[in-house]
Amino acid sequence: MSVTVIGIGADGWDGLPTASRREIESCEVLMGSSRQLDLVPGEFERVPWPSPLVPALPGLLARYEGRRVGVLASGDPMFHGIGTTLVRLLGEVRVLPHPSSVSLACARLGWALDDVDVVSLVGKPAALVVPHLHPGRRVLVLGGDPREVAALAPDARLTVLEQLGGPRERVHHSLDDADPLHVLAIECGADGESLTPGRPDEVFEHDGQLTKREVRAVTVALLAPRPGELLWDVGAGAGSIAVEWCRTHPSCRAIAVEKHPERAARIKRNATRLGVPGIEVVVGSSPEVLDLAAPDAVFIGGGLTAAGVVERCWDALRPGGRLVANAVTLESEAVLTRWRGRLGGDLSRIEVSRAGAVGGFTAWRPQMPVTTWVVTKENA
Ligand SMILES: C[S@@+](CC[C@H](N)C(=O)[O-])C[C@H]1O[C@@H](n2cnc3c(N)ncnc32)[C@H](O)[C@@H]1O
Repeated sequence: MSVTVIGIGADGWDGLPTASRREIESCEVLMGSSRQLDLVPGEFERVPWPSPLVPALPGLLARYEGRRVGVLASGDPMFHGIGTTLVRLLGEVRVLPHPSSVSLACARLGWALDDVDVVSLVGKPAALVVPHLHPGRRVLVLGGDPREVAALAPDARLTVLEQLGGPRERVHHSLDDADPLHVLAIECGADGESLTPGRPDEVFEHDGQLTKREVRAVTVALLAPRPGELLWDVGAGAGSIAVEWCRTHPSCRAIAVEKHPERAARIKRNATRLGVPGIEVVVGSSPEVLDLAAPDAVFIGGGLTAAGVVERCWDALRPGGRLVANAVTLESEAVLTRWRGRLGGDLSRIEVSRAGAVGGFTAWRPQMPVTTWVVTKENA
């Protein structure tokens, strides 16, 4: 099916280049939001988007098979827009882009588009902005409530840019009653945690069941996250491994598996506060609950001695994936030794001592040694 997606701005028909107007005029069917359809003149059949849109799209497109179909999209259709969804569905789509909201925002602010982070909060939690807040950085936020973002970035300077490119364009600093069509510009203050794994233990809410800072840094390094990859954090405790994995890149995903409901609730809170609210938390015992999407990496921090856990994790792991397991007890260490005999990989022992007060002096306080096994599933 041949579909053309035409980007349109808040200035409607007047702001469209000739090529986009011609394309619209040649359509038999034009789809888009009611607001966008009202912006263009013409005799074609107008099909306003149903709600929810994405599940209805395949049926809608099938109904107009064989007709000349145009789709209106706001700004650049390939930037957080319907264009990408249509390419996924149809394989190929002709796209006539318009300047995106972030191009217009950078033009108004005098910001370099190549030096800003962009976060979409359209239909998503405001917490996603947290990993983008770093001293002196500039961030543009699509959608969301500016007041919720302000609460997460108290020392930032915020600018609301409404209806960019349209007759009702407004740029101001008042956070109340922002027009739904707005971009929020953030100039970060001095706050912002580093995204490098191994953040201080106090950053996480925990009940002691936490992979401590030094071991956590090594563990995430061995898990070797790449953009877009999925981690299983099995026996997740406070969820710190899943959280630090996800913070390495906005496209990294994690499923945290934890049998204690109160710890599972704590994982959710840590994930939200540290800006990775998308972590899926599965409450239940492994291996029974491990019927999940195939992971690119697995961390086993708890449940090693339960029958079938390592088998299930290893079987589920994608080719090229990494499995890392940490053991503190002799029993779980024996499990790792056995598995290393079967699958190979590297065993190492991490012994950390932290300096602490002893009376008026300072001494080393050893922590329990941790045995770490890392193995890669070779590409078949
Ligand atoms: C799903 S995104 C679509 C982005 C669009 N494809 C683009 O290129 O700008 C929708 C969000 O973009 C922002 N947006 C789109 N057009 C805008 C405009 N003219 N003025 C301000 N914000 C706009 C708003 O934050 C809106 O909630």
